[in-house]
Amino acid sequence: VVDIRKFYANTGAFTYDPGFTSTASCQSKLTYIDGDEGVLLHRGYAIGELAEKSSFMEVAHLLLNGELPTKEELDTFTWTITRHTMVHEQLATFFRGFRRDAHPMAIMCGVVGALSAFYHDSTDIHDPQQRTIASHRLIAKMPTLAAMAFKYSLGQPFLYPDNSLSYTGNFLRMTFGVPAEPYEVNPIVEQAMDRIFILHADHEQNASTSTVRLAGSSGANPFACIAAGIACLWGPAHGGANEAALNMLREIGTPDRIPEFIARAKDKNDPFRLMGFGHRVYKNYDPRATVMQQTVREVLSALNVKDPVFDVALQLEEMALNDPYFVEKKLFPNVDFYSGVILSAIGFPTSMFTVLFALARTVGWVAQWNEMITDPDQKIGRPRQLYNGPTQRPYVPVGER
Ligand code: ACO
Repeated sequence: VVDIRKFYANTGAFTYDPGFTSTASCQSKLTYIDGDEGVLLHRGYAIGELAEKSSFMEVAHLLLNGELPTKEELDTFTWTITRHTMVHEQLATFFRGFRRDAHPMAIMCGVVGALSAFYHDSTDIHDPQQRTIASHRLIAKMPTLAAMAFKYSLGQPFLYPDNSLSYTGNFLRMTFGVPAEPYEVNPIVEQAMDRIFILHADHEQNASTSTVRLAGSSGANPFACIAAGIACLWGPAHGGANEAALNMLREIGTPDRIPEFIARAKDKNDPFRLMGFGHRVYKNYDPRATVMQQTVREVLSALNVKDPVFDVALQLEEMALNDPYFVEKKLFPNVDFYSGVILSAIGFPTSMFTVLFALARTVGWVAQWNEMITDPDQKIGRPRQLYNGPTQRPYVPVGER
């Protein structure tokens, strides 16, 4: 008979860490977060500076290759990504198998996973060249697939990529353009969208990135791993929070109702929380929220949108930051607090919010996957468990139970 207690007594060092709050699963050179100080660095560069001064393509190069590109390197990288924006024509047929009312994230889980069936010439994870091609393909095709998911939900025809446009401009045209009609990319919207992509590009070992690494640790191909990341991101506690924050701001509706919602958030008998407030890691202002707040102003003014939710958001933030409950618990606005307001002003329905997050995070997922594959210490991920079920007992035949 197995003595379970003896097994744990003899098993040596053993940690039980639900949610992995204090266990590092890997080493990484990509992203550094100091939650107490509100610091986020990619390869040593502060997120605020990257969002203000660089482009999503520069950040993608930085995360993938370790350095900001020279002008020539950036041109080559952008050209390479642009070359891969088309998707296999058969994928359009694959799309048509989904119901029109399918959630775009359900479609993304399916089509990104299916890329390994269309591009099996870049699934050999031991070949560095194939890894690079797969990485470029994923980054390049995500905007095309995301726009196709949007168009499909509207019943509108797909638009082929226009490779004369920027990465982000091309995505906006494929999403909001109509075939045979010219589409002018609004430079303020293009810059805001690019900035949102930068802010979501990577965030060290969050749930979806850990999922990508865990899936990849078994040797699964990169397309399958990114599909696993997309599935994880879909959850409301992860990628779905900006949708919840926007819904909450709309529910509040007018500034005079803010005190009622703050009181509810503080009431221990009410499960309600201020959505877009608080963060597992940041116990100070989320540096991404600062950039977002500034970007909302620019977008609303450029598009001449007067959305009352922005005033509600600003006043809610001010009241909460002066309330002892939020001060003592170190609850500050996170990146999701303002992003929904911007995306809605640009014209995205809430069901697309997580898709946009997935598009941007693909850069981080791919960079993390590459780092893991080339790490000499890399092992198959296999967390332990603390068994608390029954001890060994004899089998009783079914008629005697
Ligand atoms: N509103 C009111 N009270 C809150 C909030 C909030 N948004 N967030 C935390 N608290 C309180 C909790 O009730 C708890 O109080 P207690 O100590 O009296 O029990 C305390 O602050 C600590 O909360 P935890 O849930 O233990 O903190 P944790 O770090 O695990 O949670 C989380 C972080 C999940 C983000 C939480 O702050 C939250 O639910 N926020 C709202 C949802 C949200 O905005 N999520 C987006 C995260 S960002 C991202 O995923 C990209």
